[in-house]
Amino acid sequence: MSLLKDHVVLVTGGGSGLGLGLARHCLAEGAEVVIFEISADKVRALREEFGPDVLIVQGDVTSLADLRACREAITERYGRLDALIGAQGIFDGNVPILEMPEERLDALFEEVMRVNVKGYLLSARVFGELLRASQGALVLTTSTAAYAADGGGAVYSASKGAIRSLVGQLAFEFAPLVRVNAVAPAGIANSQLSGPRSLGLDAQKQSDIPQDAFLSMFRSLSLLQELPTPEDHGPLYAFLASRHNRIMTGQTVVADQGLLNRAVLNRG
Ligand SMILES: NC(=O)c1ccc[n+]([C@@H]2O[C@H](COP(=O)([O-])OP(=O)(O)OC[C@H]3O[C@@H](n4cnc5c(N)ncnc54)[C@H](O)[C@@H]3O)[C@@H](O)[C@H]2O)c1
Repeated sequence: MSLLKDHVVLVTGGGSGLGLGLARHCLAEGAEVVIFEISADKVRALREEFGPDVLIVQGDVTSLADLRACREAITERYGRLDALIGAQGIFDGNVPILEMPEERLDALFEEVMRVNVKGYLLSARVFGELLRASQGALVLTTSTAAYAADGGGAVYSASKGAIRSLVGQLAFEFAPLVRVNAVAPAGIANSQLSGPRSLGLDAQKQSDIPQDAFLSMFRSLSLLQELPTPEDHGPLYAFLASRHNRIMTGQTVVADQGLLNRAVLNRG
C-alpha cells in the first residue's frame, strides 16, 4: 500500500484509540509518521511499538510551547509536513446539565473546550505554514455528537459542533493550497476516551464499558451493525490526508455506520 508514499503525516492524540489506529494505517500506507501525545505511559508504549521509525513527541496539544517544539522536531527530521490528522479529545462524562453542580460547569467547559477545540485551533496555527508550503491537508476529528443528541453531554456536543464550524472557516482561510476536512465517527472500538478531571471522572474510560455491551448496543442502532475499530477509519482519513484528495475541502464526513440514518426504531 502506498497511498501516503512521500507524505509526512503528524497525528495528534495518537497514543491510543483512533489516533493510534490511524498512525498504524498511515505507516502501512507508506507515510513517514509523527505522533504527538500527552501521556507519558502511552509515549513509552509507542516507542516500544514503533522504535525509531516513527518520531514520537510528548506534549500537550493545548500548549503553544509543546506544539512549537513538535514543529521544530519535524522540521529538523523531515524539513516538511504534508498532513496533520487531529485525533485528540476528551469526553464530558455525559452528565446532564441539571445534575451537575453549578459551580463545576465553568471548569468542565474550560477543560473540554481546551482539548477538543483550542487544541485543533492551536495546531492549525502552528503547523499551518508547513502545510501551506507542502500544499498539504488538515483532517480533524469531530463526532456524531455534533449532529444528534445523546452522543455525550452538552459540553462535549458543543465542542464537537465547534469543530464542524472550525473546519469550514479553516478551509476558507487555508484555500487554495491546503485542504481542510473532518471526520465524524460514532462509536469506536478499543477507545480509551476519558472523562473530565473537573467532574472527578478522569479515571473513567470508554474502554471500561464491557466490550460486549457496547457492541450489542451499537449493533442494535447502526445499519452496518459493526463497531468499527480505529484501523477501520484508516482508509478514509488516509485519503483525506493525501494529495489524492483534489475534490473536497470544508467538509465533515459522517462515518457512523449508518447510525444517524434512522429516524424510528421500529424494525426488529
Ligand atoms: N470513542 C468513540 O466512540 C468516539 C466517537 C466519536 C468521536 N470520537 C473522537 O475521536 C477522537 C479520538 O478519541 P478516542 O476514542 O480514540 O480516545 P482515546 O482517549 O483513546 O484517544 C485520544 C488520545 O488523545 C490524547 N490526548 C488527550 N488530551 C490530549 C492533549 N491535551 N494533548 C495531546 N494528546 C491528548 C489521549 O491521551 C489519547 O491518547 C476524539 O476526538 C473523540 O472525541 C470518539
